[in-house]
Amino acid sequence: MKNKITFFLFASAFASLLQAQTPVYLDPSKDIEARVEDALSRMTLAEKIDVIHAQSKFSSAGVKRLGLPDFWTDDGPHGVRPDVLWDEWEQAGQTNDSCVAFPALTCLAASWNPDCARAYGHALGEEALYRGKGMILGPGVNIYRTPLGGRNFEYMGEDPYLTSRIVVPYVQGLQSCGVASCVKHYCLNNDEQYRHQVNVIISDRALHEIYLPGFEAAVKEGKAWGIMGAYNLYKDEHNCHNQYTLNKILKHDWGFDGVVVSDWGGAHNMDQAVKNGLDMEFGTWTDGLTMGATNAYDMYYLSKGYQKAILEGKYTTKELDEKVRRVLRLFFRTTMNKQKPYGFLCSESHYEVAQQVAAEGIVLLQNEGNVLPIKPEGKKILVVGENAIKMMTVGGGSSSLKAQHEISPLQGLQMRLKGKAAVEFARGYVGDVSGDYNGVTTGQNLKDDRAPEVLLAEAVEMAKAADYVVIFGGLNKSGHQDCEGTDRKTMALPYNQDKLIEAIAAVNKQTIYVNISGNAVCMPWRKQVPAIVQGWFLGSEAGIGLADVLLGNTNPSGHLPFTWYEDLNQVGAHSFGEAAFPGIWREGKKIIDEEYKEGIYVGYRWMDKQKLKPAFAFGHGLSYTSFKVSGLKAASKETADGNMTFTVDVTNTGSVEGSDVVQLYITDQKCSVDRPAKELKAFQKVSLKPGETKTVTLRTDRRALSFWDEQAGDWKAEPGDFIAWAGDSSDRLPCKVKFVLK
Ligand code: GLC
Repeated sequence: MKNKITFFLFASAFASLLQAQTPVYLDPSKDIEARVEDALSRMTLAEKIDVIHAQSKFSSAGVKRLGLPDFWTDDGPHGVRPDVLWDEWEQAGQTNDSCVAFPALTCLAASWNPDCARAYGHALGEEALYRGKGMILGPGVNIYRTPLGGRNFEYMGEDPYLTSRIVVPYVQGLQSCGVASCVKHYCLNNDEQYRHQVNVIISDRALHEIYLPGFEAAVKEGKAWGIMGAYNLYKDEHNCHNQYTLNKILKHDWGFDGVVVSDWGGAHNMDQAVKNGLDMEFGTWTDGLTMGATNAYDMYYLSKGYQKAILEGKYTTKELDEKVRRVLRLFFRTTMNKQKPYGFLCSESHYEVAQQVAAEGIVLLQNEGNVLPIKPEGKKILVVGENAIKMMTVGGGSSSLKAQHEISPLQGLQMRLKGKAAVEFARGYVGDVSGDYNGVTTGQNLKDDRAPEVLLAEAVEMAKAADYVVIFGGLNKSGHQDCEGTDRKTMALPYNQDKLIEAIAAVNKQTIYVNISGNAVCMPWRKQVPAIVQGWFLGSEAGIGLADVLLGNTNPSGHLPFTWYEDLNQVGAHSFGEAAFPGIWREGKKIIDEEYKEGIYVGYRWMDKQKLKPAFAFGHGLSYTSFKVSGLKAASKETADGNMTFTVDVTNTGSVEGSDVVQLYITDQKCSVDRPAKELKAFQKVSLKPGETKTVTLRTDRRALSFWDEQAGDWKAEPGDFIAWAGDSSDRLPCKVKFVLK
């Protein structure tokens, strides 16, 4: 017994001695804030300067002396970008960094399924862990203000509420792996052409009611560890160091405790970089894609020059210490987080997530005569179009990937129809035969020198003899299509596709058009084409996802996350002349002022105000079965605190299992300010067997009844009468209940 006591005393003495030796910042049992303060107190000025700016294209320094490793970021929102050379955009040519390319985020938003978003973020986090990345530069949550926006495919649509419900679980799933999100591009980066020079002019209401909610939810609910400042200006300050958006709104009002990372090359001014909320400066001396000074890292605004200015007494270390605290907090959440798993790349589970998001995001826009699903037995199916064969995971800017594989739409149909039906292919048109980005090449040879009329004639002839024709058209990731750094010049389909589609539909009554894009396109022929599907950019499993929907293995359940306008004349952003888009150049051509004159009236909000009918409405999506939404009830006819609970019945009135997205919109019947006719404030996706009815509960809170009061600088809900509408599209709301906010 005596020995045991002796041993215990010795062991506890040794443990406390050891404890004394383990500094607080290295002790995982200690509170992160205590570890931050301890590490900060040990760092030299030079070490503090080192951690707040890049040391290579995608990495920044740790503190080797203290055992804090270098910090690695990487793009992007749809998959982990291949490693690039230390100080180049060119890929490094590794053989262990091919990834899973997940569907683009527009498809994720079209799933209207937060569970998909969580699984997506988590799978991406596991791929990032394996690749040794502490931060993924995504997701993007900029609002679709115009269908011409070059990066819309990377974002989550036109509605702030849908965006906020999808970004939160994505961020939580990603960060549950110990990998930081970096929600971008904060804020008002809604088009690309002049993204470095645009100064956005916008009302406070539109800013807070439309463009900020996705970021606010990511920060307040998602607890995002990173935010990326946008290139453009607001109130004449670049958003990578902006007193109003970063210090006031993000850090003060929302309580953001993570790091603000500049977009690559988004920092332009030392004093603002020091004082206006920037914490980690990346990519300076480059425009984010092309030009750049090599090894400019010592010349960064927050590098040697800043250190010198401190030593000369121009600044204290007040701002510096605040930046370093946030960077250290990021370290302890990621690289120094011993609980995080190891991660893995290209696993079955990740491909399953990619397939699930594709299956839930593809939107059946039109299906006259129930041409779909295809009944392939013994039939001849003609596949037409460059987008049936062209790889889409390479290109488009920083979200470009080196996918382990990418199944094309043609391959997917060939795989699924092997031995069941004859599948033929006709090119139809030649669009863009390029296939490389930063040294990653698709390896495809899409060259075809035949004249357009020959290609068209061939497709039409073959269409005459086919039972079904599936045309894969749309956009691609080349400049002025769905591509970073440029906007589209027109909403029409490129490469004369309209002519091809019309010619084929004229000779085959079972023509199906599948649009591959992240954006709406004009479809002047849509009354001549019985079936239309929005196929998105689906990544590695594209062909599988599309074939399964077209053949009925998957019952489509996607709903549009944006309004599918007939043409630009229906778009608010294009209804107020150049000043509203792309803007008016100021003297000296350095800054272009773009005024969001449509204000809060974006998307369906605009369509309602102008009483316009789009080609397809926000929230629209068909199924191979049919649904009935009925019996909307409010738990109470009035509320004092703004919280409301509704129930609504959804019935599968068709013959196959399927999922519907029941949507709840709110109307403020009388208000001291102008408000949209209705706004999405709740939704739920529900799967139903044939004949099954489920009662769905939808909840709204005071914010759902509120508008941004510009005088008070806060949200305000005015007492009075409200209406709640329910249905499964913004233009299909059969249920209505009135209630009162006391
Ligand atoms: C690009 C993009 C940004 C990306 C970054 C790094 O210019 O704007 O989304 O994460 O630079 O590639």
